[in-house]
Amino acid sequence: MATKGVILIGGPSKAPKPLLPIGGKPMIWHPLAALARIPELTEVFIVGFYEDALMTDFIRGAKREFPKLSISYLREYRSLGTAGGLYHFRDSLLPNLGMLFVLNADICSSFPLAELMDMHQKHRGVGTMMGVTVPKETATRYGCIVHDPASAQVLHYVEKPEKWISSLINGGVYLFDKSFFDEVKAAMDTKEKHAAEDPFGERDDILRLEQDVLVPLAAGRKLFVYESKDFWRQIKRAGSAVPASALYLNHFTKTNPKLLTAPSKEGGGPTIIAPVYIDPSAEVDPSAKIGPNVSLGANVVVAPGARVRDAIIMEGTTIDKHACVQNSIVGKHCKIGPWGRVDGAPEDPMDTKNNLNITILATEVTVAKETCIVLPNKTLNRSAHDQVLL
Ligand code: GTP
Repeated sequence: MATKGVILIGGPSKAPKPLLPIGGKPMIWHPLAALARIPELTEVFIVGFYEDALMTDFIRGAKREFPKLSISYLREYRSLGTAGGLYHFRDSLLPNLGMLFVLNADICSSFPLAELMDMHQKHRGVGTMMGVTVPKETATRYGCIVHDPASAQVLHYVEKPEKWISSLINGGVYLFDKSFFDEVKAAMDTKEKHAAEDPFGERDDILRLEQDVLVPLAAGRKLFVYESKDFWRQIKRAGSAVPASALYLNHFTKTNPKLLTAPSKEGGGPTIIAPVYIDPSAEVDPSAKIGPNVSLGANVVVAPGARVRDAIIMEGTTIDKHACVQNSIVGKHCKIGPWGRVDGAPEDPMDTKNNLNITILATEVTVAKETCIVLPNKTLNRSAHDQVLL
């Protein structure tokens, strides 16, 4: 009996979110690396509806990095919902299946899969989900879990309730037994039955893991929750990528500092304020200052006197001399001119509305020298010369 993993990546936006660099790695690398740490797990399916070609390079690289894993991309012909793809591809997932991890790609987490598995093996439920505690004011944005703390059994699950019912929410990480597929099939049958009873109703073939499968599983007392106390956040919008990246960089400092080796000042490198990820092919002038919470992608060039902090700089971008970039995401192959300034506002930890004021430059944007100022909350997708962008 094999343990397998699924990563749900959704689809399609022009720039595939699962490949956005977070903590110096594509977003989807983090759940994949977590699955690779489970000794008995050898098969991973990435399920989404992006074009196959978009995933090819990532999967090729991932197979080299995690040679024990067989990794395949299962492409839905269109959005089938968070459980629809699992149902649609059941013939690929079911053979010899023991347990199945299902991981959302759009979260930032330490993915405590071994602990989740440990707990799953101690009860007789169909599934175990990872729960995380969020501030009471934000809880209704998520799937909320009411559970029995003694047994960890989920008593009630409500996706985005109108009123607060619990601050323990669905963290988007699950482990299911094979019998989970019976529950998915039952949910599909219920949906089809309702559709048959209401011939004029709206039709779709979307099956939602949360509302259509977890709700009845909880009602049938077949679902348990593992409470993670570790870091967690959702990466819904591109703006949440900078704080998520900071969380991963901090995590790597403690768990895998080798991933973060940067040239030292003593060795002739730039001034680094950790944590920072610098791709080995990036060129950073010794008089530049980088960090904290910065990731510099492949072939990024940072010129003399430049300053970068709280930022994701994607591959091929040049930051010219004395330019300053902070609280921003700079897309691939951008050029920030000399003395240019790309400036977002830092995250407000007390902000419960999730307002992020990150500045985002799309691919191949040029910010001309000196005179260009980009103010917070802007997405710039064209070149700007001698303008103040309000
Ligand atoms: P909201 O409900 O939008 O607040 O977000 P959520 O993160 O709770 O759930 P959502 O259903 O949007 O996504 C959970 C994960 O499933 C994410 O990683 C999505 O990219 C992915 N996902 C969403 N819809 C689909 C789908 O139709 N097919 C596949 N394969 N993945 C999906």
